[in-house]
Amino acid sequence: MNDAASLPDLAPLRDWFSSYCDSFRTSDLEVQRNFDLKQEHTRNVCRDALLIAHGMGPRFEMLAEVAALCHDLGRFPQFRDYHTFKDSESLNHAHLSAHIMKQHHVLDFLPDEERGCIEVAVRMHNAFLVPQGLPAVTEDLLRLLRDADKLDIWRVFIEYFNAPEAERASGAGLGFPDLPGCSAEPLAAVAAGRMVQLSTLKSLNDFKLLQVSWIYDINYPATLRLIRERSVLERFRAMLPRDREVLDVLAQVSCHLDGKLRDAAE
Ligand SMILES: [Fe+2]
Repeated sequence: MNDAASLPDLAPLRDWFSSYCDSFRTSDLEVQRNFDLKQEHTRNVCRDALLIAHGMGPRFEMLAEVAALCHDLGRFPQFRDYHTFKDSESLNHAHLSAHIMKQHHVLDFLPDEERGCIEVAVRMHNAFLVPQGLPAVTEDLLRLLRDADKLDIWRVFIEYFNAPEAERASGAGLGFPDLPGCSAEPLAAVAAGRMVQLSTLKSLNDFKLLQVSWIYDINYPATLRLIRERSVLERFRAMLPRDREVLDVLAQVSCHLDGKLRDAAE
């Protein structure tokens, strides 16, 4: 890969992204709120991707920002056409993001190989697991994008949950009903150290457990430190029921996070 001296200027891509967002502008305030949410989310994922990529080389940092900027392009037509961010009820937004990138030739300023890395990272950023057998840079980029995305989805959800109902962007809660308690299947998954499957959710509390279980799927020490600094787990604890089994699984995730942070510090 080339050195810092030949780093491309990302200003045209950032400008293209702004006009892309503007092209979805609508007088429907409720829909616009969901578009604004994704534009702000993208901005934050770019920032967090750069925080995580710091020290991995200027070329990789540039690719991290490009991947972050493009990863949720598909969210805009998804919400416009289906009024949901739930892929299972609409389409795979990551596949659509990769398609839009190609359709608009937004990565034509990059060499083919790097463009290929970003396309795979964007396309796979929402997969349940990272596929095996990817080239090293593609895998690094994909893992980084997944970490940065999670960091800001947590922020979005925490803000959503703590906002007055009238001000909430409807898409952020995925439409799950706010029922008491947590369901057995998501609790069992977290207790077993596994990520919760979206198909097992019955309520908003289950969705919170799913997001807590993402802590098992973090790739970079910098992300672990940001989880700690931003009190992600504590904020989710404050939003969940104070049932014994819920507190137990949260304590378990907390131990997992402490262990990973210790490993990373050695
Ligand atoms: Fe995202």
